[in-house]
Amino acid sequence: MIDLLTTEKQFLSSHLRKGGVAVDFTMGNGHDTAWLSAQVGEEGKVYAFDIQKQALEQTALTLKKEGSPDNCTLILDSHTEVERYVKEPICAGMFNLGYLPGSDKSVTTLCSSTMAAVEAALRLLEDGGGLLVAVYPGHAEGTREGEMLESFFSRLDRKKICVSKLKIVNSPTSPFFFLAEKREKAGDGKGSAG
Ligand SMILES: C[S@@+](CC[C@H](N)C(=O)[O-])C[C@H]1O[C@@H](n2cnc3c(N)ncnc32)[C@H](O)[C@@H]1O
Repeated sequence: MIDLLTTEKQFLSSHLRKGGVAVDFTMGNGHDTAWLSAQVGEEGKVYAFDIQKQALEQTALTLKKEGSPDNCTLILDSHTEVERYVKEPICAGMFNLGYLPGSDKSVTTLCSSTMAAVEAALRLLEDGGGLLVAVYPGHAEGTREGEMLESFFSRLDRKKICVSKLKIVNSPTSPFFFLAEKREKAGDGKGSAG
């Protein structure tokens, strides 16, 4: 059986490299932040965002527990503000939408801010970079986010950004994810067909 949390990392990992810059747009308990931190290594950098102070506190503990390199900047602000903090191109970004498990379900990601943040993430993505967006359609706002993102991603020019989706088709309320991959510039030998 497919485990979303493992599979999404497998899909994103080819875009991560030591020394790269990555963004966790939905920090939560910091599991994704810790994973990104290990992937980019000591010479890399991770920016992580959340609007809940509790998430920053929990993430600091997670990073300590995981023995993560000292390469993370934890930011108490909405991911819509990412371009105020991140000035360099990023090799990878991650969104795990929805609410913090075991916490206040009313503090969830919302269509309008998610859309603005995804657009900003795509602007920041370096050539060859990847953006992972995991959607949780088991609640009303999650369903709306999924529909909105599907419509948005389907309209992007595939010659510039190629977007894939992994979904369990016979489990409609299970999480699914999109992977948006920015094309390498022509002539670098890394372009793909299609
Ligand atoms: C499903 S949880 C993320 C799980 C997390 N990636 C982890 O590894 O534990 C979603 C998180 O998004 C946060 N969030 C909601 N709206 C946000 C916003 N506008 N900007 C940044 N984070 C937001 C929530 O507070 C919550 O912690």
